[in-house]
Amino acid sequence: MSTELGALRGARVLLGVTGGIACYKAVELARLLGKAGADVQVLMTEAAQRFVGPATFAAVTHHSVPTDVFDSPELVVHVRLARSADVIVVAPATANTIAKMTHGIADDLLTNVVLTATCPIVVAPAMHTEMWEHPATRANIETLRGRGCLIVEPEIGELAGGDEGVGRLAEHRAILEKISDELSHGRDLAGVRFLVTAGGTQEPIDPIRFIGNRSSGKMGYAIATEAARRGAAVTLVSGPTHLADPDRVDIVRIRTASEMRDAVLAHFDEADVVVKAAAVADFRAVNPATSKIKKDAGLPAISLERTDDILAELGRTKTSQFLVGFSAETEDAVPNARKKLAAKNLDMIIVNVVGGPHAGFEHDTNQAVLLTAQGDEVDFPLQTKSAMAAAICDRIAHGCRFSKSQ
Ligand SMILES: Cc1cc2nc3c(=O)[nH]c(=O)nc-3n(C[C@H](O)[C@H](O)[C@H](O)COP(=O)(O)O)c2cc1C
Repeated sequence: MSTELGALRGARVLLGVTGGIACYKAVELARLLGKAGADVQVLMTEAAQRFVGPATFAAVTHHSVPTDVFDSPELVVHVRLARSADVIVVAPATANTIAKMTHGIADDLLTNVVLTATCPIVVAPAMHTEMWEHPATRANIETLRGRGCLIVEPEIGELAGGDEGVGRLAEHRAILEKISDELSHGRDLAGVRFLVTAGGTQEPIDPIRFIGNRSSGKMGYAIATEAARRGAAVTLVSGPTHLADPDRVDIVRIRTASEMRDAVLAHFDEADVVVKAAAVADFRAVNPATSKIKKDAGLPAISLERTDDILAELGRTKTSQFLVGFSAETEDAVPNARKKLAAKNLDMIIVNVVGGPHAGFEHDTNQAVLLTAQGDEVDFPLQTKSAMAAAICDRIAHGCRFSKSQ
């Protein structure tokens, strides 16, 4: 067995199978989990039983498959099952069960167990593209992610009925690796104090207008969410965004670059890791008008002045903090980012190559290169910001351990 799946040996995995066409793939998933050394307990929804019989799973896992909250000699079977699991894996996860999990609905055995459990939860959705892309499903997935569930994104490929598109259950290997990761370093950042900044800033011109930028905050929020999911104590200093507050994260809201500086400095000393993903304005209006500038008064001249370079200030004053910066470049991205890494005394920088069709501001996906002060260079091909946040946290966890062991 591959060492990457080592954490599965001896793990108690509760596999929730819900009613999608990919149910038959869950049989092989259960078998592979068992082969990797996990003790697998399967739970099936009623719809799942229309696709595959419980007897198949029972034969593969050597455990009977309870299917009902009431139909058990035990009084509170859902509580025992929830407490006995090291990890819950819902695969395939239907749009329906994802929606129920999001809203805390507990109307069958699986959703009762999920609502009772405190262990990590891995969700591998599978559905038609339209269901996956529906705003309700998108919002539900983000809510679950925000609560710390690990989502194994569906893949692009052939779907039921011969259609093609995104929504196919991830490959077994990808799901197994995610479960193993979750078990081995699910809480590898426990006790680490993260300070993350996100979003853009707004520099007033008058009480109504401001100079802003296109940052959506998604990358910083994804990092805050991921770090909190892995056990870090996270403070998120956020400019105005349209994003929901991540769970288990302390949020400090700011509007201007100067407020951002004050908030960051107030939390800097106590932080172990500082990730500056915010797009802070470089310029602000000198003496913004105190009342609305009237358009019939002619075109106003707006004088600008530099804002403070917060990242450079942190680089100058840092003691033991691991300092991570972001940069957005349109050309010579890597050489420019490497200069910034050195000039600002950073430990790591992630450079977004702005301008691609699916990367950078406002998108859910991103493409970037990660550089470290030790000279490492890691390419992140186009991927979701959540996946990139996980990869960045992996590197941070590695970098911090590395510097601590020096
Ligand atoms: C042939 C067939 C295939 C289906 N495939 C899926 C699917 O892949 N994903 C999904 O979310 N729902 C799918 N559904 C719909 C679900 O079975 C339905 O929403 C059901 O209520 C889900 O119940 P559950 O979440 O309790 O398992 C399918 C239905 C049928 C009849």
